[in-house]
Amino acid sequence: MPTRHELFDAYELPGRAEPRMRMNFVSSADGAVTLGGQSGALGGATDRTLMQVLRAMADVVVVGAGTVRAEGYGGLQVDADHVDWRRAHGLVDQPALAVVSGGLHLEPDDSVFAEAAGRPLIVTTDAAAEARGGLFAAVAEVVGCGAEPLDLTAMLEVFARRGWNQVLCEGGPHLFGALLEAGLVDEVCLTLAPRFVAGEAGRIAQGAAESDRRFSLAGVVTDEDGFVFLRYSR
Ligand SMILES: NC(=O)c1ccc[n+]([C@@H]2O[C@H](COP(=O)([O-])OP(=O)(O)OC[C@H]3O[C@@H](n4cnc5c(N)ncnc54)[C@H](OP(=O)(O)O)[C@@H]3O)[C@@H](O)[C@H]2O)c1
Repeated sequence: MPTRHELFDAYELPGRAEPRMRMNFVSSADGAVTLGGQSGALGGATDRTLMQVLRAMADVVVVGAGTVRAEGYGGLQVDADHVDWRRAHGLVDQPALAVVSGGLHLEPDDSVFAEAAGRPLIVTTDAAAEARGGLFAAVAEVVGCGAEPLDLTAMLEVFARRGWNQVLCEGGPHLFGALLEAGLVDEVCLTLAPRFVAGEAGRIAQGAAESDRRFSLAGVVTDEDGFVFLRYSR
């Protein structure tokens, strides 16, 4: 199995100052983004380590509200070894967390807020921030970024003002589609699981118009369980 040190090397960032939007997904070999409605069942041991490694490198982890509703998304924290790595690299112990929701159909007692290490940021429309933002005052900070669909460039400007240059987006598919369409994705980390699940599950990118968006293959890692870890770069 690749060690976490090998994964840190394989996924090393070109630099911390230059803003970077990195996506991380797991997919079955036949392209399914979920098994039983969630992503966890598709992954494996190396995939879980890689998730920690990518989170450790990030200033902020971003996730869409659909993923929060499907997966709960509590307990995002990186573990003690990765906290050590972050400290050694001059970073705060945990990456920040941002949740993207147009309609703000979330609840303040959701585990994503209750189990968060810090105070998550909710990125929503100006109208939803005005109408429902107050409900989250105790658990999160709410920022408006335009009307629906959100201005994701404005979201990255909000991040940059906080010094959050290294952005890890863990999906889901509609947020990925919106980021692709806006031309904001610099890197895609894709774990390909040796599973063919068929069924009705969607793909990792959804909701965006068809277009030939060409990326370069920047790295390939494999493990003994038959998983392939692909790194694509724009
Ligand atoms: N295999 C994997 O690696 C992986 C990773 C993540 C998720 N998933 C799976 O994907 C499924 C969820 O899919 P999904 O596409 O619904 O997830 P999603 O992209 O996390 O959530 C979509 C929601 O995010 C908000 N959103 C995204 N982009 C927006 C934009 N440009 N403007 C405004 N709002 C925006 C909206 O929230 P509101 O509806 O609140 O307005 C939208 O309904 C789950 O089953 C999850 O398990 C798999």
